Parts: sequence; structure tokens; C-alpha cells
Amino acid sequence: MKAVSVHKLGLDTPMVVEDLSAPQAGPGQVVVRVRAAGVNPLEISIRSGNHPRSKMMQLPMVCGTDVSGEVEAVGEGVDAIKAGDRVWGRSLTGGYAEKGVLSAAATGILPDSLTFEEGACLPIPLLTAWNALVIKGEAGLGETVLVQGGAGGVGHLAIQLARHMGCRVLATVSSEEKADFCREAGAEEVINYRESNVPERVKEVTAGRGADVVVETAASDNLAGDLELLALNGRIVIVGGGTGKGSEVTISLRPAMSRDARMMGISSANMAPNIPKALLHLRPLLERGDIHPHIGRELPLDEANDSHELVLSGKFLGKVVLNV
Ligand SMILES: NC(=O)c1ccc[n+]([C@@H]2O[C@H](COP(=O)([O-])OP(=O)(O)OC[C@H]3O[C@@H](n4cnc5c(N)ncnc54)[C@H](OP(=O)(O)O)[C@@H]3O)[C@@H](O)[C@H]2O)c1
Repeated sequence: MKAVSVHKLGLDTPMVVEDLSAPQAGPGQVVVRVRAAGVNPLEISIRSGNHPRSKMMQLPMVCGTDVSGEVEAVGEGVDAIKAGDRVWGRSLTGGYAEKGVLSAAATGILPDSLTFEEGACLPIPLLTAWNALVIKGEAGLGETVLVQGGAGGVGHLAIQLARHMGCRVLATVSSEEKADFCREAGAEEVINYRESNVPERVKEVTAGRGADVVVETAASDNLAGDLELLALNGRIVIVGGGTGKGSEVTISLRPAMSRDARMMGISSANMAPNIPKALLHLRPLLERGDIHPHIGRELPLDEANDSHELVLSGKFLGKVVLNV
């Protein structure tokens, strides 16, 4: 099968398109003929060598995780999924490849209304949005949710999910094009973080109360400000430091204490036990179109190196996907 592999860590070393033997399904697993792969900041960070998981990777490795395609074969003990099903999920053998092995319990059925390219936008971004809003943030009906980085892969799905949960949604962006995109996704108020003081603006539009939940995808820039804009008993869910950014921040403890604030980190690596239940809840939302991923750019698998540069540039709306 054709695959894109990392042979050496460091973004200066291009990934390699090569021919590898296809992986086989073990018990509880399925083999998927991948049709599209989502490009996430996670694999770029791992490939860069700066992610804690970089050093644990055995090289060469197939890059990526997120895929969508058709089930080709199922392993022992798999009965909820069968050959031919259209699915989405996280490949255990790497995403940028014609075939991948997925855990059956963590594999979602792709509604007929979604293309494989749209399915490939879902695994890490949508499950992360679910984790942030439902499991960790416990966003409630009528609460105000601020999505920092609203036009990104996680952000645009978090806006849609929060809106579906009956929350009032605010979002931050860097351009008017991204602002329109977030409004279409369901954000009531969009703040250009380059032009406005975000904590002040959040206070203004919430009549001084602040946001109940912050889904923070660029924490290295925003965490200190998040504490200032939080409502009493507010929750900040740290999804990421920001695409291509570091993880060091300086914060003041006082605003956290005065608000009884909760600050939680999340990692997609820890979410496996929660995925089957999340999939049950998310399937009808995807079928009804309450959540609909947006593809900013599609590139062929051979252009995986360019897809990493594109994601790092931030010059796209929603998700970047590879056609496999
Ligand atoms: N913990 C986890 O399990 C998990 C899961 C998924 C993602 N992540 C992390 O979360 C982050 C976002 O992931 P993603 O897939 O959504 O990335 P993405 O698709 O690259 O989107 C990132 C968005 O953040 C915006 N942004 C950059 N700086 C910002 C700032 N200071 N304030 C507000 N927005 C800003 C970017 O747009 P502009 O620059 O144009 O504003 C872009 O729209 C990454 O760091 C990723 O590694 C973590």
C-alpha cells in the first residue's frame, strides 16, 4: 500500500511517499481502505520532534491518525461493524496510508450524507470538542462558551456542538473571512483577537458576567486572558498551546482564585475509554446535520509535506484533508 512516512524527526526533513505492506486486523480491530486522511497539528508536532510523544515513536512511522474509508476486513470478536461499512476513526497504524487498522470500539459509522473527506475531518477534532465541552467543561444549557481559535479544525466543530447544546457561543479569529465562517457555524459574537482586547470584549457582550466555559486551542497566547474573562465558577479547557506554538505560559493566580475557576488539560491520548459513548451521542448529530465539518483544502496524499506547511500557516478554514 502507498503510505507517507516520517524517517527522521524535524520539519526540515520531508516525509517520504513509499510502498509498505498492508497492516492486518487483530482481535477487536478492523482494517479500513482509507479514502481520506485528516491533517492535524498533533502529527506535525510529533514529526517536529518537540512533542512529548516524539521520542517514543519508532522510526520510520506512517504519519497521522485520522481517517475515513470503507471497512475491508474485521478481526475476531467484531460484530458491530462489517466489511463494506463506511467509517471514520483514528488509525492505530498511521493515517496517511491506503490502509489502516482501527479499534472497532472507537470507529464511527459515517452517515451517507457525509463524504469520506468530511469524515476525515472528524476523529481528533470532533472527539476533542466533545471531550472539552461535554466531559470536561460540562457546558450547560444557556451558558456562554468562548471558543478560542473558532475557525480551526477543533474550533469550528466546537462552535457547532456548543450551539447544539443550547449554549451562547462566542469565538475568536484573526480575520473577517474567519469571522464570517464562525458566524455561519453558529457563533453569536466573533472577536478579532488581533484588533480587540478579548477579555474586555467578552465582558462587554456578557454584561460583565464573563464566559462560563472556554475551549482554548491557543493557550500559549491566551491563558492569562482567559482567567480574566471567566465567569464565577468558570471552566477553562486547555485543548492546545496553539498550532506550531510552544507550551510555556505565565499566569496570575489571583483571577483564578477570585472566580473559583477550574482549569483542565485534555489529551486525545487519554480519551479512548470515552470514545464509544461519545460516538453513540454524535452519530445522530452527524446524521441530522447538526454538526457538519468544513473542508478548507484538499490535497493528494503525495502532497502531505505541503499539507503540513499549510496547516502551520493557518491559511484555511476548518480542516485540511488528504485524498488517499
Ligand atoms: N489536547 C488534545 O487532545 C488536542 C486535540 C486536538 C488539537 N489539539 C491542539 O489544539 C490546537 C488547535 O488544533 P486545531 O486542529 O484546531 O488546529 P488548527 O486547525 O490549526 O486551528 C488553529 C486555529 O487557531 C487560531 N489561532 C492561532 N492563534 C490564535 C490566538 N492567539 N487566539 C485565537 N485563535 C488563534 C488559528 O487561526 P488564526 O491564526 O488565523 O487566528 C486557527 O484557526 C493545536 O495546538 C493542537 O495541537 C489538542
